[in-house]
Amino acid sequence: MAKIALSILTADFAKLGEEIDSISSADYLHFDVMDGVFVPNISIGLPVLESVRKTTNMPLDAHLMITSPARYTARFAEAGADIVVFHVEAETENNTRSAIKELHDLGKKAGLSVKPGTPAEALLPYIDTLDIALVMSVEPGFGGQRFMNGTLPKIIELRRIIDSIGSKCEIEVDGGINLETAKQCVAAGVDVLVAGSDVLSSRDRAVHIAKLRNESLG
Ligand code: DX5
Ligand code: ZN
Repeated sequence: MAKIALSILTADFAKLGEEIDSISSADYLHFDVMDGVFVPNISIGLPVLESVRKTTNMPLDAHLMITSPARYTARFAEAGADIVVFHVEAETENNTRSAIKELHDLGKKAGLSVKPGTPAEALLPYIDTLDIALVMSVEPGFGGQRFMNGTLPKIIELRRIIDSIGSKCEIEVDGGINLETAKQCVAAGVDVLVAGSDVLSSRDRAVHIAKLRNESLG
């Protein structure tokens, strides 16, 4: 059964504590960090993550959509993230390798993400050291976008590569996930579904999270 990582990007930040309570049945809390440079939007950062850490025991999955992310990966880990994912397009190979090692030394999980236009092969040099491979199924920057179907062959390819080397790396997909696209992604080999606006706009969020999980059972 797929895990659900709940993106709070489209939550009401003025009542974030209540918003988090309403989605606490999800497996991870997905925390989207944007710097207005790597993506054309600015969201939330370290002080908010520290506050969130104090209000929930949910595992925090920080998705850094920022330039030169290795400057900040350890900072997010120390602020309370359990998983820190950054973009392969945004860093040099040396910095990427040292950030992954640093996260592991801190006892955290490390992930790398690819934008829709970046091939799965970009993750290959690191795949045996990763806990998470995050495939973006929309252009990063905004919640509520439509799932890009071209993502599915990339997921299938990554699944094949990861299984062929016997890696435990999980595949996470992010953007435009709903009951229909969740099913397609799980069939393609996804382990973790990031869901944001589809859950947050539903009438009963806990019921919708359970439905997303069940839908993914096929
Ligand atoms: C987009 C973010 C996603 C997004 C998911 O850049 O990384 O996590 O908020 O939200 P939905 O499910 O609304 O696409
Ligand atoms: Zn995200």
